[in-house]
Amino acid sequence: MEKLTIALPKGRLQDQMLDLITSVGYVLPQGALTGRKLVFYDQSQQLRFIMAKPVDVPTYVEYGAADLGIAGLDVLRESKRELYEPLRLGFGKCRLVLAGPPEARNRNLRLVSNLRVATKYPRLALDYFYRQGISAEIIPLSGSVELAPVVGLADLLVDLVETGTTLRDNGLVELETLLESEAVVVVNRASHKLHFQLVQELINRLAEEIGQRAGGSQTDAN
Ligand code: PRP
Repeated sequence: MEKLTIALPKGRLQDQMLDLITSVGYVLPQGALTGRKLVFYDQSQQLRFIMAKPVDVPTYVEYGAADLGIAGLDVLRESKRELYEPLRLGFGKCRLVLAGPPEARNRNLRLVSNLRVATKYPRLALDYFYRQGISAEIIPLSGSVELAPVVGLADLLVDLVETGTTLRDNGLVELETLLESEAVVVVNRASHKLHFQLVQELINRLAEEIGQRAGGSQTDAN
């Protein structure tokens, strides 16, 4: 039987994604939520799930190791991978922001020399500063980015804000929003053609469920 492989991000979005997949009628094995298994099938054996690090989902999908995936728009844009994005899921909402100490609000960043910006999103940050005509050195980090301006590693940071607690608790403020993010379905371009019906059926089921939850349909026509 023809199967689809779906790459799911471990971590923050995991519970909501597995809940969504269960809601559209797929039965997942016991322990899919709590166990450490990285590959599992739904009960009908139609879908194979692989659990990847969120930042790696676009890679699995672009190389065809997975036909589809669920990724944050932030991660997807940072990856610059060429994938279909047929559906936004309406959860995992957060914003990618430029942030810093409160006094940064009064600084003209174009006039600051040696501006240093810490981020997990070096490409998106660079794009932003380029578009703004601001010269900045990007300092790539892999986590706890808010620490960087607090201890003098960087002047500013570009990172995700969900509740705003991390910024607030570290005495930092938002300066600008670079991107509104949420979970999106991504599809490998070849899989989209080769397994058109299967892919479309899955997307339709997800779209219908998301639409019901939101009180309207959110399918994009691309
Ligand atoms: C994310 C993000 C911020 C924080 C924002 O980090 O990078 O640090 O959450 O959330 P808040 O606005 O609700 O406080 P995560 O917890 O994924 O850990 P990391 O910084 O180690 O990547």
